[in-house]
Amino acid sequence: MKELKILIIVIFFSLLTYWGVEPFAHSKMHKHVEDKNFAYNDLPTLTKKGDVKRGEALVMGAGACLGCHSIKSKGMPAPMDPNTAAASYGVNPPDLSNVGALFDERFLAQLIKDPVKALKLEHKFDGKTRSFPMPAFYGAGGDKEQEIADMVAYLKSIAPQEVTPKEAYVASCGRCHANRYGKYEQIGFVPKTKSNIKTNQDIDLLKFKEKVAEYQGHLADYMGKLPPDLSIIIRARSEDFLKTFIEDPQSQLPGTAMPRVGLTKEGFEKVTSYLEETGDPSKPARDALGIKVIGFFVIFTILALLWKRSVWKDLH
Ligand code: HEC
Ligand code: HEC
Repeated sequence: MKELKILIIVIFFSLLTYWGVEPFAHSKMHKHVEDKNFAYNDLPTLTKKGDVKRGEALVMGAGACLGCHSIKSKGMPAPMDPNTAAASYGVNPPDLSNVGALFDERFLAQLIKDPVKALKLEHKFDGKTRSFPMPAFYGAGGDKEQEIADMVAYLKSIAPQEVTPKEAYVASCGRCHANRYGKYEQIGFVPKTKSNIKTNQDIDLLKFKEKVAEYQGHLADYMGKLPPDLSIIIRARSEDFLKTFIEDPQSQLPGTAMPRVGLTKEGFEKVTSYLEETGDPSKPARDALGIKVIGFFVIFTILALLWKRSVWKDLH
């Protein structure tokens, strides 16, 4: 009887601790953040309808975008190599060929108008002690809202129908995050070179590594720390965390230097699928195996039924 009482007391206190403390600890360690499904409701909707032709003239001219960015699909090369750019801006400005397909249009408009606000980096770039490297667009003499809508329309018009997961990653995360399993460093994919057999040295690869190290130095200075390699982040973090973190890094990590990237839902799915490819390369094989296993069980069940019938048929 006494043992039973002790047992009940122990169970009571264990449950009390579990219900009372665990959710509290959980909420402290894993802050629950509601996802907004990449809606960007804090940003104003575009009131003007953009004109592609005028947008092209602005992006190529008064908008000054080409002073820092390349648009390779339109034959516009980068004004400087990644390392020179990182030496000036801290980071290499991304190519604009497919941003229109990956980023939300409200985000793009806000980015052109006021990058610090779009990226949610007010805590880092107050404009007095520190200015953001991409300047706000001051207008080209006409209606500024219209000019911005025109540029967004142009960027959307040149974006390809299909952006691959790899391209999505490079365009939206690649300037900051390496992905070693994907053989990607912030300045590009690791060259497939051949070693000099006689000396057993691979000079091209060593030169590439030297550039990567230099780039990462500028990047770490700019960001305060080197952004982590994302090769296996898909295993370390839940899909839910990645979603809420990427749509608004400040919601999970207040004060972080990582900008809000502004991906659309589809853009995010592309990036995630690249992260799955590098972090969990055996997933497609596992999924395919699952179907085979189910098929095996179906056939096995049918055979077992047939066998049972044939055994029982003579016994009735
Ligand atoms: C003086 C250089 C400069 C100019 C001019 C400039 N940018 Fe940028 N831009 C940058 C830099 C640097 C970054 C990356 C900043 C970072 O990641 O912290 C960037 C980032 C971007 C991004 C990526 C945002 C994201 O969420 O990943 C887009 C899109 C962009 N710029 C578009 C434009 C457009 C359009 C124009 C012209 C209206 C323009 N930029 C003009 C330097 C510039
Ligand atoms: C302008 C640079 C920049 C860009 C672009 C960028 N990040 Fe980051 N990211 C950072 C920095 C800096 C950190 C480190 C944050 C910290 O510890 O405060 C970080 C951290 C992260 C983390 C780790 C969070 C954690 O605590 O585990 C993830 C995941 C991540 N980034 C994903 C992405 C993805 C996916 C993209 C592209 C869609 C992206 N980032 C684009 C700079 C960037």
